Amino acid sequence: MTSAHAIEQRRSLMTQIPGPRSKELHDRRTHAVSSGLTVGLPVYIERAEGAILVDVDGNHLIDLGAGIAVTSVGHAVDEVVAAVSDQVARFAHTCFMVTPYDAYVEVCETLNRLTPGDHDKRSALFNSGAEAVENAVKIARRATGRQAVVVVEHAYHGRTNLTMALTAKNMPYKDRFGPFAPEVYRVPTSYPFRDGLDGPAAAARAIAAIETSVGAANVAALLIEPIQGEGGFVVPADGFLPALSAWCTDSGALLVADEIQTGFCRTGSWFACDHESVVPDLVATAKGIAAGLPLAGVTGRTELMDAVHEGGLGGTYGGNPVACAAALAAIGVMERDDLSAKARAIESFVRPRLEALQRACPRIGDVRGRGAMLAIEFVVPGTTTPDPAAVKAVVASCHAEGVVVITCGTYGNVVRLLPSLTIAEPLLDDGLSVLESAVRALD
Ligand SMILES: Cc1ncc(COP(=O)(O)O)c(C=O)c1O
Repeated sequence: MTSAHAIEQRRSLMTQIPGPRSKELHDRRTHAVSSGLTVGLPVYIERAEGAILVDVDGNHLIDLGAGIAVTSVGHAVDEVVAAVSDQVARFAHTCFMVTPYDAYVEVCETLNRLTPGDHDKRSALFNSGAEAVENAVKIARRATGRQAVVVVEHAYHGRTNLTMALTAKNMPYKDRFGPFAPEVYRVPTSYPFRDGLDGPAAAARAIAAIETSVGAANVAALLIEPIQGEGGFVVPADGFLPALSAWCTDSGALLVADEIQTGFCRTGSWFACDHESVVPDLVATAKGIAAGLPLAGVTGRTELMDAVHEGGLGGTYGGNPVACAAALAAIGVMERDDLSAKARAIESFVRPRLEALQRACPRIGDVRGRGAMLAIEFVVPGTTTPDPAAVKAVVASCHAEGVVVITCGTYGNVVRLLPSLTIAEPLLDDGLSVLESAVRALD
């Protein structure tokens, strides 16, 4: 069982944020680390437990970002710490392609069992979300003998060369990093707040764009986040995903779900596709799978996953034993403690508060999301014109008060909440109160 927390689950500030030791470290960073890496909040973390980050100045901050939807079971969970420690003491690496080990096989069995659909499946493991997406595209192309990959507006799939091409937003992800990979086509998506379309109408628009600009017979994969992450926590209108899924079935294209941010209980079910009983042909997973250790997977129909020639998939570290041990422990906690139910409980607690805030603040255009993946989109009052300045002000106030929140959205005008699914309610309450005050303080 998870023991009582050694770090008290309470926000407390000893210094201004950032404190003097963080500032020193930040100065060192400036002289050592490429300025190409951004920093959300320059406090340097010494320890973390549950949903509390302790920085080098002794400040206890509430973590409402979970390292971008990664530490869903919480920081330093006993089960994960024990499994990782045991594994690293036994062996840290052999390379699964050289001499295999059982934890890799067990993670694949687990992914095959938990991902949508009860058909026969196989999995392969990688290091990062982008790598999983790249491999899903390789598999889709090899299995279909087709080349085109269709993605949607506002999509985010990573920062490698192929995934930059798949990602929609230019700045900061793509600007002057081209040339990008060919055979990638972008079509409209469903963004109810901005397009006002119902799901079937938005799907018809996307399908018409595919058929006219790509040609159904050329499409290897339609790759989509069932709820968009970096793009702004955009939940498509009901019926959008099922209609795209049906079109894929009819046209021989593979539906590839990027569940990297939405997977592993985050949205109140194992995977976001589950909410509309959509069964993708391939699923890419990462982030929440391994409680902070780098691990990613591609899971899909056996005939697709096995269409690849032997040696066509792999990598030195993919499915590293320590990361696999972390994943098995984290997933064990999710199953035992029903963290999907916890995500739904978080939504029940947070959403009414955000909706009340929206009623009080005309700068909030939309409150949306699912489970413990919730967001507020800021606009110029009475319009849908994005207001990224409001987001900057809100985030700065939260940070100053010791609450770590992060942003997203094509227009940089969305505050997103991604707490660990195990966060204690008083902590969530405190974090929300800080956010509410920050929003109410906007002019
Ligand atoms: C939906 C989605 N796909 C892919 C990625 C890329 O994952 P990684 O940063 O592990 O490469 C992310 C990361 O934020 C993501 O949210």
